[in-house]
Amino acid sequence: MRNLINGLLLLFLSALSGTVNAGLEADKPTVLITGANRGIGLEFVRQYSILDWNIIATARNPKKAKALKALASEDSNIIIEQLDVTDHTRIDWLADIYADQAIDVLLSNAGLTPKYVSAFKRVKGIDFNMATKSFEVNASGPLKLSQAFMKHVAASQQKKIIIISSKAASFELGPKMPMMYSYRASKAALNMFMYTLSFEAPKQGITLTLISPGTVNTMKPGGIKIPNAIEPPESVAKMIALIDRLTAEDNGRFLSFADGSDIGW
Ligand SMILES: NC(=O)c1ccc[n+]([C@@H]2O[C@H](COP(=O)([O-])OP(=O)(O)OC[C@H]3O[C@@H](n4cnc5c(N)ncnc54)[C@H](OP(=O)(O)O)[C@@H]3O)[C@@H](O)[C@H]2O)c1
Repeated sequence: MRNLINGLLLLFLSALSGTVNAGLEADKPTVLITGANRGIGLEFVRQYSILDWNIIATARNPKKAKALKALASEDSNIIIEQLDVTDHTRIDWLADIYADQAIDVLLSNAGLTPKYVSAFKRVKGIDFNMATKSFEVNASGPLKLSQAFMKHVAASQQKKIIIISSKAASFELGPKMPMMYSYRASKAALNMFMYTLSFEAPKQGITLTLISPGTVNTMKPGGIKIPNAIEPPESVAKMIALIDRLTAEDNGRFLSFADGSDIGW
């Protein structure tokens, strides 16, 4: 009886928030992408849509996600869900709503990136609120997301968890200079969370792989262009090809978008 009431409640709430997954087709692979309203996440949506996947695209503020909504208006297999990855209750709620939905690729893309004023300051200028927030968004959020959606991935055909990390967090390859303290440390924490989780993932048949997307120009139009940055379509096309060819051997690896080579932790 209690399960029935919970089920009805979830159905009612999902109808209220527009989270009815009627647009997802059973014979198509499904990807869930966080931070899908702009930058690399939006480009993932665009390219997976061209490849005819079911897409659950999450955004912190769907009302303002104009470009994402425009894509969804052209493709009924794109469902937009509200999600701030620091909201663990919401993550669990979404996992419940999609309890019967297999997710082939869980793509943790959302990140608090170093675009805020103090990001490039030296040690005296560190904003410790941003350091804490970076950890919550970049490290704990993806771990919580993985915890909640592992069973959906395990129930799918492809069974892949993909974590977008950053070469900036690599002790070996990251910039040898004092910059992006909070970003780099939070991504290094993400790497260790995921490295550790990669010892559990294969027990459910899951391949968990971290990918560095390269240096990608995701500044807002009119913003400063990062020197030597590539554009999102190039990075994402290479990442999708890489994700596609991953096998169980790639579990627990941290790979470059460019050629799938290993990045030193
Ligand atoms: N661009 C690069 O050169 C580069 C290099 C290495 C790694 N990466 C990684 O690639 C991923 C995407 O980067 P990007 O350049 O596309 O970043 P971006 O343009 O700054 O976009 C970040 C995305 O994450 C979302 N986000 C931020 N905080 C969130 C939260 N608490 N909950 C849910 N979503 C949140 C943003 O949503 P809002 O619009 O609501 O803020 C936005 O959709 C990130 O993980 C980043 O660290 C990027």
